[in-house]
Amino acid sequence: MTKSILVTGGAGYIGSHMTRMLKADGYNVVVYDNLSRGNADAVLDTTLVEGDIRDDALLGKTLEDHGIEAVMHFAALAYVGESVTEPDMYYDNNVIGTFRLLNTMRRHHVNRFVFSSTCATYGEPDTLPITEDTRQNPINPYGHSKLMVEQILMDYAVAYQLRSIALRYFNAAGCAEDGSLGERHDPETHLLPLVLFEALRIKAGGDPADTKLCIFGDDFDTRDGTCVRDYIHVTDLCRAHIHALERLFETPEAGAEQFNLGVNRGVTVLEVIQACSRITGVDIPYKMAPRRAGDPPELVSDATKAMDILGWQPRFHDIDNSIEHAWKWFSTHVPDAVKAS
Ligand code: UFG
Repeated sequence: MTKSILVTGGAGYIGSHMTRMLKADGYNVVVYDNLSRGNADAVLDTTLVEGDIRDDALLGKTLEDHGIEAVMHFAALAYVGESVTEPDMYYDNNVIGTFRLLNTMRRHHVNRFVFSSTCATYGEPDTLPITEDTRQNPINPYGHSKLMVEQILMDYAVAYQLRSIALRYFNAAGCAEDGSLGERHDPETHLLPLVLFEALRIKAGGDPADTKLCIFGDDFDTRDGTCVRDYIHVTDLCRAHIHALERLFETPEAGAEQFNLGVNRGVTVLEVIQACSRITGVDIPYKMAPRRAGDPPELVSDATKAMDILGWQPRFHDIDNSIEHAWKWFSTHVPDAVKAS
């Protein structure tokens, strides 16, 4: 029988790609999103319930009405910098919100849960690449909020027989390969979109001297002084969730598992800008700025566990793919922020 899955945050960047992949794979999908950061029009041909994860009544009704058997939980605030200046929002939405969601699930006997966790839970690791056994020691409230939920999931597995998989994402990037589904954040703070916005601005005749693209710190202990991240294509990320979901259904015993999702390849901020310049054919200008609070110097994954246990393999190992697909999207969906500049 077709399985019904609730995707919280399904109007957001990763959630919208996930929703589309689940539907293509034959699942019934219901999106639950408060639209505080998501876009209703990113939810394509799918039921959208506009609601907050802290609204126990509406969430419970949604679980019942649609016979939900598993929840994929993307609804979260996910800006590292913002979490440092507004930690209350992060603990309220990410911790209290998820806690409420889990308790509503319990009341309605839904006990399968895929959780969007993050490599930000590792903080500044002593050794690289990062495995799941690397000590978790976040350096920003965003990372703390996600680690707290991982702890709740472990305790709920023991006490309430919850079956969960926490996926620790490295840096999600890219858009649908055919340019049909993209990435939209408001405000946009992520590196790759901002670099491509700058390419669009220059292409439209903008003055390079007016660049707003900043590199946050060039004095890190990395190969060129800028931060290193492991960029994973959004469709590879979503494919891993499908494997995780299948595992929840195939091995129903209670338990909480964790997997890293990345491609084990570190790319510096400067290298991202250079690759974008090469692929767009635009000499993208930038300026140096002070470090952004909460940014670890280097985060690179070892995702062997996901490959071995989930049977997952990324298709795109090179950030060039993510850039090409994102460029296809942004060139045809020029953001208002670029049009206005
Ligand atoms: N950066 C710049 N200039 C910008 C934007 C970003 O130099 O204008 C730098 C950041 O300082 C960082 C790197 O580019 O070193 C990547 O920054 P992003 O904001 O794109 O991504 P983050 O690594 O801060 O965070 C993202 C997600 C989080 C997730 C994290 C895991 O937003 O949800 O990846 O590393 F947890």
